[in-house]
Amino acid sequence: MISESEFKKRRDSLANKMPNSSVGVIFSAEPATRSNDTHHPYRQDSNFYYLTGFKEENSALVFLKTKNELKTVLFVQKKDKTLELWSGERLGAKEAKSRFLVDEIYLSDDFKKKFKEFIKDKKSIFCELGSKKREAKKVLKLTKDFKTKHDIRPLIQKMRLIKSAAEIGLIRESIEITTKAHHRAMSIDKKGKFEYQLQAEIEHEFKINAAYSDAYTSIVACGNSANTLHYIKNDKPLVDGELILIDAGCEHNYYASDITRTIPVNGKFTKAQRELYSLVLETQLKIISMIKPHVKRTHLQECAERLLTKGMIELGILKGSYKKAIKLLKHKKYYPHGIGHWIGIDVHDPAPYKDDKHQEIALQKGMVLTIEPGIYIDKDDKSVPEAYRGIGIRIEDDILVTKDGYENLSSGIAKSIEEIEAISSKF
Ligand code: GLY
Ligand code: MN
Ligand code: MN
Repeated sequence: MISESEFKKRRDSLANKMPNSSVGVIFSAEPATRSNDTHHPYRQDSNFYYLTGFKEENSALVFLKTKNELKTVLFVQKKDKTLELWSGERLGAKEAKSRFLVDEIYLSDDFKKKFKEFIKDKKSIFCELGSKKREAKKVLKLTKDFKTKHDIRPLIQKMRLIKSAAEIGLIRESIEITTKAHHRAMSIDKKGKFEYQLQAEIEHEFKINAAYSDAYTSIVACGNSANTLHYIKNDKPLVDGELILIDAGCEHNYYASDITRTIPVNGKFTKAQRELYSLVLETQLKIISMIKPHVKRTHLQECAERLLTKGMIELGILKGSYKKAIKLLKHKKYYPHGIGHWIGIDVHDPAPYKDDKHQEIALQKGMVLTIEPGIYIDKDDKSVPEAYRGIGIRIEDDILVTKDGYENLSSGIAKSIEEIEAISSKF
C-alpha cells in the first residue's frame, strides 16, 4: 500500500515545480457510460490517483502557490443517504479531513465558489489542458484571462517514471496474480475449448485473487489469430497442434502487469514451433540481460531487430544478406512493434520517453518496463517455409531497472520450452 505521507510527498514535489502565484488543479475521472443508463465500474483517473490515492468521483485536488507557501485543497462529495443507497458509501468531508494530509477539505458542491476565491491573486494555472472532463473545461473558462496556462499532466507523468519501493511492491503483487493466471492457462486441458474459454480461466484467476480487473483486454489468440497484434475477439477454437499467444495481465490496487506467453494447445511444441520460439526467447533473454542504468530503449530495440533478423535469415524466413536485410528493415514485416514500454498505474504508463531537450531518456534505477519481442508469420505468406506459416509468437516480461542491472519481476512465470511442457503435462 502507498502511505498517506508518500502521497503528500508526491503533491509537495509536484507543487515545487510550479512558480509562485500559480494555481494547480486536477480532477477525478468522470464515470464512463457502458450503454444507455448503465456504467462501467468506476476507475479513478491515474494521475489523480497517483497524487491522492482517492478512489471517489466528483473530486478535485487544488494547489495554491503564494510566495514560497503551498496550500493543498481537496474537494470531496458530500455524504448523501439516498445516493449512497444506490451507489455506495462516500467518505465525506469529516473522514477525509482525518485521512488526507492536505491543508483544507471542502465539498465538491462548493468548488466553483471556492475556486473563484482561490484564483483572485493568481497569475498562472496548471490544469488538464485539452481534457474532455467537464470540470476541467469550466476551470479554463474561469481562468480565461490568465496569461500563462500549462498542462499539469506532463509534470505528474514525469514523476511516475521512477517507481518508489511501495509502487514496486504493488507491481509485484499484481504480477503474482497474473502468474497464477498464466500457469492456470498452461496447466488445464484445452482440447475442444475456445479462446474465450481460456480467457475466462485466466480472468477467473484475476478475480478470485481480488484483482480489480484486467489491466487491458486479454489477447487469447490461437494459430494465425496471433498475427493480428491487437486481437481481442478471442472467439475461435483452440486447434490441436497450434500455438496460443496469451497476452494477459491484471490490475491490482491500481497497478498493472503485462505478460505474454505463447504455449502449445496440446502441451508439446512441434519442431518448427520450437525453432521460432527459441529465436524469440533467446532474443528476449539477451535484451533483458542488457538492461541497466544509462542504457537506452532505442539501443535495445536495435539489438532485438538485429538478433531477430539474423535468426530469421538462418531459418530461411528472410532471404539475402544480413547487411541488406538490416539496411532495408526487412524485419518489420515479421516484427513490426516496439521492444517495450513503461508500465505502472497504466499498462502503457504515460511517463515520457524524451526529456525536455527532446533527447531520449536513458534507463534509471526504479524504472519498470516491458520487454516483448515477437515474430508473426501470416498463414498465407508464401515467401516463408510452409512449416512456419500461421505462427505468431511473443514473449513479454516486466523488468525493474536496479542500481547496476535489472530484476525480472515476472521471472516466476514458466517460459522455457521445458518449463511450459512440464506444466502442460499435468493434463
Ligand atoms: N498488452 C499490451 C502490450 O503488450 O503492450
Ligand atoms: Mn506490453
Ligand atoms: Mn502485453
